[in-house]
Amino acid sequence: LHREGADMKMKNILTVLGNGDLMRMIPFLGDWKAFVRWQFLYAVIESGLLDILDRGLTRDEIMEESGVRRADILDALLDLGCALRELSLKNGRYQVRGKRLRRLQGGKGDCNRALIEAGSTYYSDIYRKAGNRLRGEGNGPYLEEAGPIIARWGKLLEPMIRNFVVKTFAGRGELKTLDVGCGSGNNLKLAHLVNESVYGMGIDYDENVVRQAAANMRDWRMDNQFAVAEGDIRTPSTELGHGYDVVTMYNVVYYFTVEERCQVFRNIRSLLRENGELAIVNSFNTRKNGWGTSNLNMAVTSIQGCYPLPRLDETRRFLEEAGFSRITVEQLVPGDAFYGITAK
Ligand SMILES: C[S@@+](CC[C@H](N)C(=O)[O-])C[C@H]1O[C@@H](n2cnc3c(N)ncnc32)[C@H](O)[C@@H]1O
Repeated sequence: LHREGADMKMKNILTVLGNGDLMRMIPFLGDWKAFVRWQFLYAVIESGLLDILDRGLTRDEIMEESGVRRADILDALLDLGCALRELSLKNGRYQVRGKRLRRLQGGKGDCNRALIEAGSTYYSDIYRKAGNRLRGEGNGPYLEEAGPIIARWGKLLEPMIRNFVVKTFAGRGELKTLDVGCGSGNNLKLAHLVNESVYGMGIDYDENVVRQAAANMRDWRMDNQFAVAEGDIRTPSTELGHGYDVVTMYNVVYYFTVEERCQVFRNIRSLLRENGELAIVNSFNTRKNGWGTSNLNMAVTSIQGCYPLPRLDETRRFLEEAGFSRITVEQLVPGDAFYGITAK
């Protein structure tokens, strides 16, 4: 009987392997698993279960602590987490097991959480509606929801911009700086990390983002060095002051139409002291974009209030037209169109 069972098993395996349709699905099944894991992680973040799952609680304790009302869906989600090996269940108690779920937790996990949240919200919609847009539908109003998520992504780029920030700020003594489109404020923090005498302000036109940045500055005890305010660089208010040594703009150029870009550079130039420096970091539209940059380009081309990634030659021309004459261009990621530009 034992032998018959084994033969049957082998027969089943061979039938599956011999099925051309199924074999053709194999690459997709791998992607499907990654997709299911991604959606599991999103559900755990969005439902607020993330912090509760690592406390070794039973299913009933999880229900009580989280205020979940649908036991059936909770059971399904917990089962899925175990099947994906993101959760373990021992003696009726759940623990975090997988490295992805673990790396979503706590302060250090915030950037990863933002990535998952972006993927499951506005990025999903961008591709879901791509067909409609190709047929002529307008861009989606994603920024309201996405602004605070995008701001939290910033830290992801930190290793790529670090050397550029060091070159811009380190060893130059006291510097007054303005960070345009400051997002979470993380890049002001980085500037301060490489040069303690940097001070100034960050502006952003998204009030939710400004709130996040101001809270961060307080948390980081940097609110003495850096003020954060709501402001639109296309129409700079007099409160911004002038005489800045360095104005930085990280990942903001694609928020301006092509027609607006030159004027924005002019506005910034009028805020700089003589010989002051504009430092831009941005992804550009070149023929050698990696998939990450191409995905970003797909997003900014589909988001209301954003525009296709800028071209390098055009950006250089706009900077010159705005009155900058000494311009340097440096590729920050080998093999991808992520550049640092300085202009004086
Ligand atoms: C992609 S995020 C980058 C945030 C941050 N600089 C970083 O690198 O992490 C771009 C930010 O620029 C802000 N922004 C866009 N247009 C702006 C404008 N005209 N004036 C001020 N801020 C703007 C957006 O609200 C958003 O927070």
